[in-house]
Amino acid sequence: MCGIVGLTGEQLKVTDLIEALERLEYRGYDSAGVAYLKDSKLNITKSRGKVEVLKNHLGENLDQTIQTGIAHTRWATHGEPNDVNAHPHFDCSCKISVVHNGIIENYRALKIRLQELGHKFLSQTDTEVIPHLIEEYYNGDLLEAVRKAVLKLEGSYAIAVVHVDHPDIIVGARKGSPLVAGMSDSVKAIASDVTPLLKFTKEVIFLQDGELIELSANALKIVGFDGTTHKCQPVTVNWSYEDAQKSGFKHFMLKEIFEEPSCIVSVLTGRIKNDRIVLEELEPFEKMLIDSKTIKVVACGTSYHAALVFKYLLENTTPITVDVDVSSEFRYKRPHLKPDSIVVAVSQSGETADTLESVRLAKRCGAKIVAVTNVVGSTLTRESDCVLYLNAGPEIGVAATKSYVAQLVMLYLLAFKIGQLVNDFVPQSSQLIDKLMRIPEIFENSLKSSDKIRELATKYKEYKHFMYIGRGYGYPTALEGALKLKEISYIHATGYPAGELKHGPIAMLGPEFPVFAIAPNDSLFSKMKSNIIECRSRNAKILALTNHDNQEVTELADDIVFVNNSEEELYPLLMTPIIQLFAYFVADELGLDPDKPRNLAKSVTVE
Ligand code: AGP
Repeated sequence: MCGIVGLTGEQLKVTDLIEALERLEYRGYDSAGVAYLKDSKLNITKSRGKVEVLKNHLGENLDQTIQTGIAHTRWATHGEPNDVNAHPHFDCSCKISVVHNGIIENYRALKIRLQELGHKFLSQTDTEVIPHLIEEYYNGDLLEAVRKAVLKLEGSYAIAVVHVDHPDIIVGARKGSPLVAGMSDSVKAIASDVTPLLKFTKEVIFLQDGELIELSANALKIVGFDGTTHKCQPVTVNWSYEDAQKSGFKHFMLKEIFEEPSCIVSVLTGRIKNDRIVLEELEPFEKMLIDSKTIKVVACGTSYHAALVFKYLLENTTPITVDVDVSSEFRYKRPHLKPDSIVVAVSQSGETADTLESVRLAKRCGAKIVAVTNVVGSTLTRESDCVLYLNAGPEIGVAATKSYVAQLVMLYLLAFKIGQLVNDFVPQSSQLIDKLMRIPEIFENSLKSSDKIRELATKYKEYKHFMYIGRGYGYPTALEGALKLKEISYIHATGYPAGELKHGPIAMLGPEFPVFAIAPNDSLFSKMKSNIIECRSRNAKILALTNHDNQEVTELADDIVFVNNSEEELYPLLMTPIIQLFAYFVADELGLDPDKPRNLAKSVTVE
């Protein structure tokens, strides 16, 4: 998975391409490169490492004015991260250059065929077949050559192509990987997402699968892979360019955690009227929801943990069974879905390959898809029957933080809505809804404890292992706490239902293996207390997360973080900023970059 960008227009410099690339670095950063046209010459610079390394390579060339350029930041799939495998790739004549995000599944067969025709390959990548294919088909018309080339490609891709004979033209194509175009009077741009475009415009076009685009300084043209002309349908995005900056925080992750209160407000806005949940998007499916016995949910990673909270909530408040599957498993199972089934797909990015394939499988069974996502125009939104947008704004840090909180809030709303439809779950829900509306304020308070959490992170950062435990609503929080810690600090962390400890994991505990206990004073606290005592008697240090009134924990834990008292259903939400901040500060204290954890990328658009 990679980030691609292309710019054409007036007064552009190489540094504009680099700045755009920096906005996309969250998509992968093991190598980076640019290709730009200047004085009818194609200049290519690429290197292993982050965009910063590429910048150093470019040196004085950063200031060069250019007509057109493309750039790439890579998350390697085919071929190790090195200078040769870095994009852009080019053809034999060195006139055509291509950047690509995705995977060309039939590249071996194409490469052999092209080699037989005399083409010389330099890299181990699947991408390199693309410029050579375009070279084969080029006959003076770049758009047509790219169109013919993409018809030969199998797999998923978003590409941007330049040719020295067309110094102000970029051709893009999309199948299965995101591609967005933007246009201002002076600049036309194309990129893997809107973030790099915001500097130039808020008017963007989300390309559809099977579309090609030709951008020139003065025009923009979209055609289908069959060559027919398609309508340009610009939409206005409300994200400001500043939204995508760090606003003074050391890292995007920290900034994004601190944005959580305002995210909650965004999700809730217009969604609650007189204690009733307003989700107009769901109206066509209300009858199906009322009749549902089971709702299937598919998601990956953090989104899966949000889905688990939804399961606990809906099963505790309605007769509906919620069946949550990790998308990468579900997509290869017998789905057991029918035309009256509802499938909820939870995905921050809306581009996660396994979740999209799960949705496609469900659709083949006739099921209706409700998407919960943050990204307007993402593939998931186009393939779903109903979309509940999170409106959390762009999330740049690879670790999901504010998007998780927004997912939780949206899934609470969805569960309450279904509860209201199914059994008019008003008395209980009105109390919960009232609390939900006060959550932003409570979050602000929790975030004030960040200094204390940094102290704890300093104390615990040297441990090599962590066990997160929870029961009931605390269990998904334990899973998410462990995921957050391991993905950004590289400390081994595992999440367990506390009741499972005795079935194996407790064997690992000891003075070198601390336990992070999610232990609010809820209906399962007495059970949780016993589990904490069991851990202590194995000499494990206990770091407990509980609520203010639960002073009993003081006798059990070595260290405690308190959150506001609440209904037990809402603790997964209230405790989230604490587990996120703990992971963030441990990573920061260890001198790691939490925004760009090794081996990870923001959206997993390949299997
Ligand atoms: C969590 O911090 C990760 N970014 C990852 O687990 C993520 O939640 C997962 O890849 C799913 O992504 P999605 O929500 O965009 O589908």
